[in-house]
Amino acid sequence: MAIIIDGREWAGKKREAAAFRTAALKKRGIVPCLAVILVGDNPASISYVNGKERALLEAGMKSRDIRLPADTAEEEILSLISGLNKDRLVHGILVQLPLPGHIQKDQVIAAIDPAKDVDGFHPVSAGNLILGRPGFIPCTPHGILVLLEEMKIPSAGAHVVVAGRSSIVGKPLANLLLKKEINATVTVCHTGSGDLGRYTRQADILVAAAGKAGLITADMVKEGAAVIDVGINRISDERSPKGYRLVGDVDFDAVAAKASYITPVPGGVGPMTIAMLLLNVVISAEAATEAATEIS
Ligand code: GUN
Repeated sequence: MAIIIDGREWAGKKREAAAFRTAALKKRGIVPCLAVILVGDNPASISYVNGKERALLEAGMKSRDIRLPADTAEEEILSLISGLNKDRLVHGILVQLPLPGHIQKDQVIAAIDPAKDVDGFHPVSAGNLILGRPGFIPCTPHGILVLLEEMKIPSAGAHVVVAGRSSIVGKPLANLLLKKEINATVTVCHTGSGDLGRYTRQADILVAAAGKAGLITADMVKEGAAVIDVGINRISDERSPKGYRLVGDVDFDAVAAKASYITPVPGGVGPMTIAMLLLNVVISAEAATEAATEIS
């Protein structure tokens, strides 16, 4: 039976560290602040954004909460971002994804000042990550690396198979794992890979990040593999007061019987994403403070 990785516990520790660094900044009169832009009323996005804002406040940071109707014009969002880029009291800018269909996501993300790109989605951040240069690391992949490290799951020489090639998780995670300090061998699978099990069965560490409930079944997992489930899927459940419950991409019970480690959903990778976001906001505020000190 696998050891269940308690993402809430590790996230709590990282959030405490972010709160500690925030307190140090506050003594110097700086309050780390994240501007959060939510366009539309996607229920999952509302829930994520509320969670992020709660966590910011709990860590002693500020949240600039910007909620816009679904029919907001792209130009309005671009001009809002332009103002936030110039605002010295704002250290990070997060545009919750997905955006409504009429808005070009890439244009919006590219409008964010890379120095405030705490999501790590800007092309400059992505380029820095690929080249192994300093820059903001996307929060979910970063959270996964922290969990592997804290649980002492060896990554050097390990074969990591990532199911999913999104720009938010799969691609940045693959690039992080390739870094010399981590030294994994990485396979990225996607909808064009055909027989997914052919690849996943070779994984020492399997990361399921496809957003598809029940994608990874026990027969697709090698005995003793570590399994990281990034999926957050809502499936209808009449017994739940909300009418749905959250499940990952992994058939949890059957896979847990075979794996060495496994992350649950909820309570695994999700809380780490928020913790890493707080860390990026505090890093950005520290960097802005250092830059201001150098100038004065
Ligand atoms: N939508 C799903 N995950 C994320 C995330 O990490 N950041 C943003 N901005 N949107 C998301």
